[in-house]
Amino acid sequence: MPNLHIMPSVLAADMGALRAECRRAVEAGADGLHLDIMDGHFVPNLSMGPAIVSMIREAVDTHLSVHLMLSRPDQYLDAFIDAGADTLHVHVEAECDVAAALAAIRGRGIRAGLALNPGTPADRVASLAGQVDELLVMTVHPGFGGQSFLAEVLPKIGDLRAAWPSVDIAVDGGINVEHGAETVEQGANILIAGSFLFRAADMRAEIERMRQAATLPGARLT
Ligand code: DX5
Ligand code: ZN
Repeated sequence: MPNLHIMPSVLAADMGALRAECRRAVEAGADGLHLDIMDGHFVPNLSMGPAIVSMIREAVDTHLSVHLMLSRPDQYLDAFIDAGADTLHVHVEAECDVAAALAAIRGRGIRAGLALNPGTPADRVASLAGQVDELLVMTVHPGFGGQSFLAEVLPKIGDLRAAWPSVDIAVDGGINVEHGAETVEQGANILIAGSFLFRAADMRAEIERMRQAATLPGARLT
C-alpha cells in the first residue's frame, strides 16, 4: 500500500498572493501541491495555464501534481511538463487517445496520472493498467472548488484499490478530515484538499489532523 500524502489544491488559494500562498502550504507540511488546469470546455470554468505553473515551480521546491481538465490534453502535455509538472493527470473522458497521452507523459520522464469523473465506472480504466502511476478519483464533478463531497464515489475507490494494489490513488473534491479518512479506508492514499486547507485558520494543524484521522483504527493505512 503506498504512503499517505496530503496535497493542498491551489485553486482555493488567494490568487492575488499565489507565490506566498504556495510557500505557506509547503511550510505547513504539505507533501506537494495540486494545480487545476481548466479549459472552459471539458469543464465550465477557466483557471491557470503553463506560465502560472512555471511561476509556482520557481517559487517552491515540492511535488507539483497538475490536473488537466481539458478536452484535448494531448495538445498541452509538453507545455505543462516544460513548466515543471512532476505528475500530469489526464482524464479518461478526454477527447483524445488517452493511452497515447499516458505514454507520452511517461516518455518525458514524469509520472502519468489518470483521472475519472464521479460517474465514470472503475472498469472504464481497466485496460490502462500498467500505464498509470496514479489514479485521480474525482469526489465532486470537476470544474469548481468548494463543492460537497460525493459519498457515492466511496465504493469505486475500494474497487479501484482492489484492482490496482500498488498504484497511488488520489481523491479530489470536498475533502476534509472526515471525508479524507473515509477515502483512506477505501484505499486512497493521496488526499487533495482545496477550500478546507487554504481557508483553514491553521493549515498546519489541519494537515496534521488529516494525517491523524487517516491512521485511526478503521482507516486502511494503519
Ligand atoms: C475541482 C478540482 C479540485 C478542487 C478541489 O474541479 O479538480 O482540485 O480544487 O477543491 P475543494 O477541495 O475545495 O473541493
Ligand atoms: Zn483537481
